[in-house]
Amino acid sequence: MSDLRLEELSATNIVAANTLTLKPGQEQFVAPVSHSIAEAYVNPSTAWPRVVLDGDEVVGFIMGNFDPDSPHDEFRGCIWRMNVAASAQGRGIGRFAVVALAEEARSRGFDRLTVMFEPGEDGPEAFFLAVGFEPIGETQFGETIAALTL
Ligand SMILES: CC(C)(COP(=O)(O)OP(=O)(O)OC[C@H]1O[C@@H](n2cnc3c(N)ncnc32)[C@H](O)[C@@H]1OP(=O)(O)O)[C@@H](O)C(=O)NCCC(=O)NCCS
Repeated sequence: MSDLRLEELSATNIVAANTLTLKPGQEQFVAPVSHSIAEAYVNPSTAWPRVVLDGDEVVGFIMGNFDPDSPHDEFRGCIWRMNVAASAQGRGIGRFAVVALAEEARSRGFDRLTVMFEPGEDGPEAFFLAVGFEPIGETQFGETIAALTL
């Protein structure tokens, strides 16, 4: 974890990104990376897909959505999806990715970042609270909406 960096999703890292494994029970909280890749492909002007590298190894994936004109407040500057490889969790990689995405959002003029996630014991709630998000509401599907002031 000494040499963490973000790299744009590309032909070089797409296979590694797509084969990141999660811990048992976590799959229900996040769609497969392949879904994000497809979404990024059809939303090239707003999606910001990045892999997290530790040295040469792909250890995580994060995708932001930057759409200042979105009619939905919670989609203007948000973490669309993220995951850290099972074997690399608990080492600060998720925090690193959120901080990097927050810096990108700030540089684009956003003053807050939002995220939506399923509540539940094996879910990412404790992580998002630990990195500074605060719950601000709920979607019609019962997902928590949380925000980080930048
Ligand atoms: C959520 C996830 C991205 C966290 O990544 P990570 O690299 O393990 O998190 P970090 O090591 O950077 O942890 C950052 C902080 O969150 C806390 N944290 C992380 N997971 C936690 C958990 N399950 N319970 C309690 N605290 C947790 C850590 O203790 C740490 O706190 P600290 O810095 O105050 O010590 C990872 O567990 C994951 O990929 N989960 C499955 C996919 C998912 O749910 N994605 C989010 C949907 S959008």
